[in-house]
Amino acid sequence: MLTKSNRVWTIREWPRPLVLALCGLSVLGIGVLDYVTGMEASVTVIYLLPVALGTWVLSRRAGLLLAIASVLVWFIVERIQAVPYSHPLIQFWNALTLLMLFVGIVLLLSKLSRSYEWLEDKIEERTVELTQALADLRKSHAKLKDTQLQLIQAAKMESVGRLAAGVAHEVKNPLMTIMMGIDYVEQLPQSRDEETAGVLQEQRNAVLRATAIINELLDFSAPGKLHTQPEDLNAIIEQALGLVKHEFKKGCVEVVREMQPHLPALPLDRNKIQQVFVNIFTNAVHAMTGGGTLTVRTYATPVGTNANADAAADAPGAAQDRIGVNVEVDDTGSGIPEKHLAQIFDPFFTTKAPGKGTGLGLSIVRQIVHIHGGTVDLSNRAAGGARATFRFFTTGEGRS
Ligand SMILES: Nc1ncnc2c1ncn2[C@@H]1O[C@H](COP(=O)(O)OP(=O)(O)OP(=O)(O)O)[C@@H](O)[C@H]1O
Ligand SMILES: [Mg+2]
Repeated sequence: MLTKSNRVWTIREWPRPLVLALCGLSVLGIGVLDYVTGMEASVTVIYLLPVALGTWVLSRRAGLLLAIASVLVWFIVERIQAVPYSHPLIQFWNALTLLMLFVGIVLLLSKLSRSYEWLEDKIEERTVELTQALADLRKSHAKLKDTQLQLIQAAKMESVGRLAAGVAHEVKNPLMTIMMGIDYVEQLPQSRDEETAGVLQEQRNAVLRATAIINELLDFSAPGKLHTQPEDLNAIIEQALGLVKHEFKKGCVEVVREMQPHLPALPLDRNKIQQVFVNIFTNAVHAMTGGGTLTVRTYATPVGTNANADAAADAPGAAQDRIGVNVEVDDTGSGIPEKHLAQIFDPFFTTKAPGKGTGLGLSIVRQIVHIHGGTVDLSNRAAGGARATFRFFTTGEGRS
């Protein structure tokens, strides 16, 4: 950008009275020089310097004033030196031509100076416009890159989902066959002894665990159709808390409820949302290895009060009177290491020991929340532990 400091004519920024005084003194100085050097030396043309400077830096009027002053000084010096002319009027004629010459130069220079100023203003204006355009371009570029990443992520998810579905279908049938085999062998008289029964039970547990994983995989690859109806989110959360009750007890986790009563009804698939919170509560219990506190908070806020999360709800055509219902699940566990924060929603990402977690929990959570038009985020709390934040939206057809 063109700044004052890198302009060529920084003298233009000097105080105007100072420049005028400098030019005036120069005229007088040149007059003295003219007088001292006498007739032989040609000094007249030097008067042009302060005249030109005054015109360029100050104004046309200042230039004209300096031109008159210069001619006057020149004239006085001529008179003092009593230069002999063949006719007394020649001196006046010379003064007049000198004045005309100076005035011409002043007029020309002032025009040039105005064009220069106009150009300078235009360049500054254009520079501001260009800087703004560059900032806009950078913003669009960042947005484009973001969208591209999202598209890549979506494509990746789709192919992972397809792969998972394929594997799940292929494995499901053999598992069923194995389970039927276990059922059959259990009925045989030879398997009544304790040791065989123990082995068969272990096998049954292993098949059940594998079936549960397969079901999770199928859930992840195709979350299925939503059966939504107006629901009370507090009630669904309460049911999910009930399902994890034993885990809480076993893990010495105290549950604190900070639920806003009479939340607006939300269009939800009860079973799927229950699955979401069971996943979140289970993760929290696992993160609080030595016990801790799980706080569930719900509250409603108007749409638009959460700029990032409400982007989807504010889409064109969205009902204006919609309400956002927030859920925060705080735990006092280990928190999420900074390096994992970007990956926790990725399918199959887990920090749990092999056989303890598939790493599908949060990706299923996100999928279910997204198909409900909601948002979910997991972050670390300043006080320690993690916070899962949800936001769901009403249809905008009134409260229940
Ligand atoms: N509340 C939490 N506190 C700390 N880390 C968490 C929390 N919730 C999730 N994580 C981290 O995110 C990872 C992914 O969670 P996710 O639920 O997707 O898979 P998982 O719990 O490992 O396995 P599963 O598929 O059985 O749920 C976890 O392994 C854990 O490292
Ligand atoms: Mg989990």
